[in-house]
Parts: sequence; C-alpha cells; structure tokens
Amino acid sequence: MKVLVVGGGGREHALAWKLSRSKKVKKLYAAPGNPGIAQIGTCVDILATDIQGLARFAESKKIDLTVVGPEVPLALGIVDEFERRGLKIFGPNQKASRIESDKAFAREFMYRFGLPAPKFQIYTSASSALKYLKTVNKFPVVVKAAGLAAGKGVSVVASRKEYEKKVDEILVQHRFGEAGKTIVVEEFLTGQEASIFVLTDGINMVYLPSSQDHKKLNDRNRGPNTGGMGAYAPYPTNKRVTNIIEEVIMQPTVLSLRDQGIDYRGVLYAGIIITSLGPKILEFNCRFGDPEAQVILPILEGDIIEPLMAVTERKLADVKIKTKNHWSICVVLASGGYPYEYRIGEEITFKSSLSKKTLIFHAGTKMEDSKLVSASGRVMNVVTTHENLKVAKHRVYEEIKKIHFKGMYYRKDIGNSGMKKMKRKRRR
Ligand SMILES: Nc1ncnc2c1ncn2[C@@H]1O[C@H](COP(=O)(O)OP(=O)(O)O)[C@@H](O)[C@H]1O
Ligand SMILES: [Mg+2]
Repeated sequence: MKVLVVGGGGREHALAWKLSRSKKVKKLYAAPGNPGIAQIGTCVDILATDIQGLARFAESKKIDLTVVGPEVPLALGIVDEFERRGLKIFGPNQKASRIESDKAFAREFMYRFGLPAPKFQIYTSASSALKYLKTVNKFPVVVKAAGLAAGKGVSVVASRKEYEKKVDEILVQHRFGEAGKTIVVEEFLTGQEASIFVLTDGINMVYLPSSQDHKKLNDRNRGPNTGGMGAYAPYPTNKRVTNIIEEVIMQPTVLSLRDQGIDYRGVLYAGIIITSLGPKILEFNCRFGDPEAQVILPILEGDIIEPLMAVTERKLADVKIKTKNHWSICVVLASGGYPYEYRIGEEITFKSSLSKKTLIFHAGTKMEDSKLVSASGRVMNVVTTHENLKVAKHRVYEEIKKIHFKGMYYRKDIGNSGMKKMKRKRRR
C-alpha cells in the first residue's frame, strides 16, 4: 500500500512511525512532513491546508490511504474532497468535524443529547455578552472563541473587569477574526483532565488508550497554556472512572452524532475533566491529540492500517485493538521563551547515542546546511515506554540529558500525577 500522512508535527511523526511498522505499507509519504519523518518516508512540499494540491498528489501517486493529522484540513473539508474523487482517507468529513471547529455547535449538541457538560451561554454580540454579567455571582468563568484558534481561544476569566476586556477583545476587536464571531461562556470546573480517544466508523467503536496532556508551561501546572508540554498514558486507570466515561460520555456521543445525522468516521477525542460530580466534557476534537498521539501509538499492538482502513470503510465491527501493558511518557523539548517569543535556528546535537528503545518524534525541526536545527516553539518529543511508570519516567529524563540545543526547556514532572496515584493505591 501507498500511504500519505497529512501534517508535519510530532503527532504526524508518531503516526508515520506507526504506519512505517506495518507490513502492508510499502511506500510512505508525508505532506509537508518534517526531518524526523524524512528518515522513514518521503516528505513532499505541500501544505496541510492545500486541499486541492494534496488531492492531486494522492491521485497522481495512486495513494491507497491518506491519514490526516491536524484539525484545520478536516475543517476545510479535505475528507469531502478526497471522497468526491474516490480516494480513501481517514478522518471525519467537514460536517462531522464541526464538533471541534465550532464550540457553540458542540455545546448545543451536548445539551440537546444530555451529555455531561458545564453550564454555558452562547453570544454573538458584545451587548448581549455583557448582560450575562447581571446573572453571574461567581468567578472565574471561561470564555471561548467558538472557532478554531490553535489552542489560544480559551481564557479563564477571574473578574467582571477581565470579562469585559475579553468580550471586547473577541467580539469587538475581532482578535480571532471569523473564529471569534461567536463566543461560548462557561461555568468553570475543577478536576483532573484526561484525553479520551475512540475510533469510530459511525456505528462501531474501538477504544484507544486514554492519556493526560500537560498543557501548562511549568512544573506543577503553573504558568501559561501551551500546545502541550508532555503526556503520559494510560490515564485514568481507575476502572470505575473509565467505565463511567465510556458509558456516560463516549457511547452516547457516538449514538447522538448518528442521531444528529452526522456520518462520523475517524478518531473522536473527548477532552474531559473529572469533577467531584463526575466526568464532564470540556470539548471534542476530531483528530488525535498532540502530544497524546506520541504516547498512545507506541503502546498499540499490531498493524495500525487495519483499524484505520476499517474506519474509512465502515467495517470496524470486525476489528479489535490490543494495547501493550506498558506506561508511555512523552516529554516535549521546547524553545526557551515559548509560548511567547523564542529563538529558532538553534542547532540540535546528541551528546551520545540514544537507547534503541527511546522514540524521538520531531515537531518543529528543520535541516539547515545539513545541520538539524530548531524551527518552532515545540521542537521535539522524547518518548519511552515501560511496564513500570517510574522506570519509564526515569529513562525519559536520562535520555533527555543526551540532547542539547541552546535554550532547550522542558517540564520535569511529566507522569507525576500518575505516580501519586500508584502510591495512593498501594497504601490502600
Ligand atoms: N469549563 C471549563 N472549566 C475549567 N477549565 C476549562 C473549561 N473549559 C476549558 N478549560 C481549560 O481550558 C483548556 C482549553 O479549553 P478547550 O475547551 O479544550 O479548548 P482548546 O483545546 O480548543 O483550546 C482546557 O484544557 C482546560 O484546561
Ligand atoms: Mg483542548
């Protein structure tokens, strides 16, 4: 088979790596890919948002399956265009991907089908959004631009004044353009967050390991939000909690999507928060998480092609996925200064060779004068897996000591929340 991966970040490198291990895959392309993917496949210079360019490429190379990494091409309708041309592609169509690309639509969908979610309001004008202040007596509240904002559209607002400022910024100054034509204002929930993944062909569903992303820049979840500084899997491990998530959130969501007349085929990713009143949905995403894909894919057993093809062909009923009994940890190496201003073009060097068991997934790197250099805020993902979480964590940080670039920054506590839990369990 010939396979094309759309995208060029750490998630796409992890997808390409898993696909490259399939016996069925004879030729692997990525658009635009990155220097890490270039070691296992052929990178082609087409942007992930160039839907026509990608479709023409897939036609000319007779690609058997295209796997889409990021949300933007899905929201632009890449799946609709490929299917119109009779090309096989993994991911939800434009209508289905609205579950991620329109947070107002997603919240109304949750409300309509009684899915567990925070209380919310939807506003399209500043005057009506400000009237909301008359009804609130408790801060913080959460203000979200409804459209895609590359992870920057959500703010936790601590006071009336901040709320007024945020409303002005989004609905009056149009900071997010079209993506901020509508806002969702939500009740602020507290609890541990988790990323739950299921493959669905619209009817059947197969669970993938769930995971915890670490969005804050600094240890102990301090500092500004980022695209994700690391992740570990599986999380949550508490059987009672995972059962509730499956029965109260994931299964009803897949059924409700169908009821709503949506043909959802792809990964459904629920971002949830485990509150004292049970798990609630923060958002849905229509693709794998980044950096969650980097921890999930390494602990999946077997050939990934089979389930991906089954999803696109609506044959998921016949598929089972086995997960290795391993913990998996990913630590993101970021450029100093990220998520604000940072330098790129710093040479990345390896002081000694990494263990064969360690996986490196490139994110923002590029080749310059035959040197590997940083090219973005999140530069590289270092991943280890082991039966024991403590060992996996120890190894990942030992391996990171071998990697260097000027200003390299990373969190030192990825996986800690999992370790606390293991200890607690042991004490009981
Ligand atoms: N209702 C809420 N209560 C508390 N925190 C929230 C709420 N909604 C979002 N957040 C926080 O903001 C982050 C980003 O929000 P999310 O809805 O996932 O948007 P996106 O990932 O598109 O930026 C979440 O991971 C969570 O930490
Ligand atoms: Mg999110």
